[in-house]
Amino acid sequence: MLSENPKLLDIFNKRNQMTGAQPTALAMTVLAAAKHIDDLTVLLPQVTQIGYKHRALQVQPEHYPIVGKYLIRSIKEIVNPPQEILTAWKEAYQVIADIFIGVEKDMYAKELWKGWEKFTIINKLSTNKSGSIVEFVVKPLSSKVFGNNGKSSKIFEPGQYITVRTKPPTGNDGHYALRHYSICDIETPGVFKFAVKLADKGLVSHYLIDDVNVGDEIELSAPSGDFSLDHSLLNKDEYPLIFMSSGSGATPLISMLQEQVMKGSPTRPIVWIQTNKSELEQPFAETIERELSKLKNSENIQIYTNQNMGRIDAKFLEEKNIVRSKADIYICGSLSFMNDIIGLLEAEKETHDYHRLHYEPFGPKMSIA
Ligand code: HEM
Repeated sequence: MLSENPKLLDIFNKRNQMTGAQPTALAMTVLAAAKHIDDLTVLLPQVTQIGYKHRALQVQPEHYPIVGKYLIRSIKEIVNPPQEILTAWKEAYQVIADIFIGVEKDMYAKELWKGWEKFTIINKLSTNKSGSIVEFVVKPLSSKVFGNNGKSSKIFEPGQYITVRTKPPTGNDGHYALRHYSICDIETPGVFKFAVKLADKGLVSHYLIDDVNVGDEIELSAPSGDFSLDHSLLNKDEYPLIFMSSGSGATPLISMLQEQVMKGSPTRPIVWIQTNKSELEQPFAETIERELSKLKNSENIQIYTNQNMGRIDAKFLEEKNIVRSKADIYICGSLSFMNDIIGLLEAEKETHDYHRLHYEPFGPKMSIA
């Protein structure tokens, strides 16, 4: 598809294509949708989450027939089913595509600004001692982004991400590269703050961290995503709030923690669990300490895997009393971290109300779901 439609290389993440994570996620979704074709409402949470990603990337209705054409071609080439089965897949794809297009139409109607807006980088600072996670502070060129009151905290949901569009001079054949980064602060009006982790061989992270400087311009699409606190529980002390992250997975959780501190009960029990390779890698240490210190019933658990401090496993969850039935749990990190934790919590389904488990992997969610 990409070789015959090179313009799509301005949308797709080359790395996720190479690892197979994104094609897997797409195939798993189409398969799940086909299985539930008689009642697709059961898949609405998944469709919504993917729809937010598509909207952030500015995927448009006219792109759907292109993806459909190559999906059907792949099924034909690989499975080679009888014609009537192929026809049924074509019809099913149309049904699924129409649902996505409909959901995304509503999201486009509500987006904070249309398409891509220019922002100036006004600050760039390391969030940890090793310098591997860097916070960018950006300000829009246009006043219409924040409207007249300039209050950024009012216009996005803590937990959401923004999407950055850049054109790295090397490594992407002159195409745009798009990346999602979680918003890591809700307190400063008139700007967005997001954190970029220096990824191994990461095209965009290296470009942003090594080559893009204060004063330079980048483009952003409007905040997106459905990872956010359950607001009905903000003032319910009987529902402990648990945050678990690995590495830069802490970023969306910091915005959520700030929201809980700002709007919620100061006596709600809160456990912050963060795992990193070492203390040098731990991002936002001071911010987290500061926010937690504003609460009366909080615990900060830092795990450094290079210090034999153990890991988050079933024993750890039990010792820390994480699987309390009413705990409202938010997890963010790499796909493998998510897989481990979700597996552990799933095994505890009897003790924990599974509905109160919210997670956002850094990578396509449906490749692990
Ligand atoms: C991401 C499904 C159509 C472009 C995804 C993801 C899924 C998915 C599951 C991963 C979401 C995540 O990160 O959690 C589907 C399905 C489609 C469809 C089921 C059709 C019914 C399209 C179309 C385009 C598109 C028409 C545009 C040509 C993308 C891109 C990503 C994505 C660029 C991000 C992948 C990356 O670069 O990492 N889609 N999609 N998708 N989709 Fe779709």
